[in-house]
Amino acid sequence: MSTSAEGNAPAWQAEIAALQATLAAAIAAADDAAALRQIEVDALGKKGSVTALMKRVGALPPDERRAYGAAAGQARGAVSAALAARSDALAQARLQAELDDRSFDETLVGSSTRRGAVHPLSLVRRDIEDVFSSMGFHVLDYPEVDSEFSNFEALNIPSWHPARDMQDTFWLDAGHLLRTHTSAGQVRTMHRLGGEPFRAIFPGRVFRYESTDASHEHTFHQVEGLMIDRAPAAGGPGVSVGHLLDAMRTLLSAIFGEAVQVRLRPGYFPFVEPGFELDIACRNCGGAGCSVCKQSGWLELLPCGLVHPNVLRMGGLDPDQWQGWAFGLGLSRLVMMRYGIGDIRLMLSGDARFCEPFVAGC
Ligand code: DAH
Repeated sequence: MSTSAEGNAPAWQAEIAALQATLAAAIAAADDAAALRQIEVDALGKKGSVTALMKRVGALPPDERRAYGAAAGQARGAVSAALAARSDALAQARLQAELDDRSFDETLVGSSTRRGAVHPLSLVRRDIEDVFSSMGFHVLDYPEVDSEFSNFEALNIPSWHPARDMQDTFWLDAGHLLRTHTSAGQVRTMHRLGGEPFRAIFPGRVFRYESTDASHEHTFHQVEGLMIDRAPAAGGPGVSVGHLLDAMRTLLSAIFGEAVQVRLRPGYFPFVEPGFELDIACRNCGGAGCSVCKQSGWLELLPCGLVHPNVLRMGGLDPDQWQGWAFGLGLSRLVMMRYGIGDIRLMLSGDARFCEPFVAGC
């Protein structure tokens, strides 16, 4: 490097200006990010042409070093500013090209997205939970795998009892089983909440070792209800069949959205005394008689009754001091009635089309 022969301008000044001009042209010509990046490496990288300029300062006569350093530094700044500006311009151009793309038609109708649906079992269960919560009931949950004790013995169904044959059971190891009914939660609830009057429902899945057809499934849903209060002899209001009927009427009118006519027939269950079958006026014919109700005008809906003294005892409650009523609602059956579903096996089929009509319930 030497000073220029003619004039005062040192030769390196023209050299820096030339390099800067070459780079400026290259930057202006680069039409994508990769090309820009390459120019940046070639100019400003460790072995880059601009970096090399900076390194040469030591080779100059001392009186030129300051001016040279300033010029080289200025060139470096100018190149990196040009790189940044070009990069912005390219990004801007890309965006503009996307906006200008006339193949995008914002007036086209969009493709519809499918909304999820709530299973009708969940819809009706929620309704039932809402009604009972508003009447002061706890909503409880119990295990599906339970003991022989909770499912049978505690409910006044000892091993020799013929009622066991009515509920064919999936037996597991060591006295465990898949609960055959939500009644298995009754004695658990007395132990949990007993000592004070209480009301509770416990919805859940139950299992029966049965062959299946349009009205039988090995897995279905029930909602158990239990209300316990002090007997009149213990200074309490007592619990009567009248209370039970009242609660059932409230429940059913909430479910069906209108007053529902009900009747009680005697029914036998070892854990209630007296026990009943509660029927509702046929939803199909209004009670006149049709094929759905086999011309009787009534549909069997839920069994219920006053809690048997032996069951109260199993729950740690003295039957002289405490009384209760209970019901076991076939939730699956109720859902089928409410929505006119003809085959119980559809309920747990997992076929998404089954739920589609219930999207509005989200
Ligand atoms: N657990 C009985 C069943 O599944 C139904 C039942 C009957 C429940 C009478 C009750 C009741 O709470 O009082 O067949």
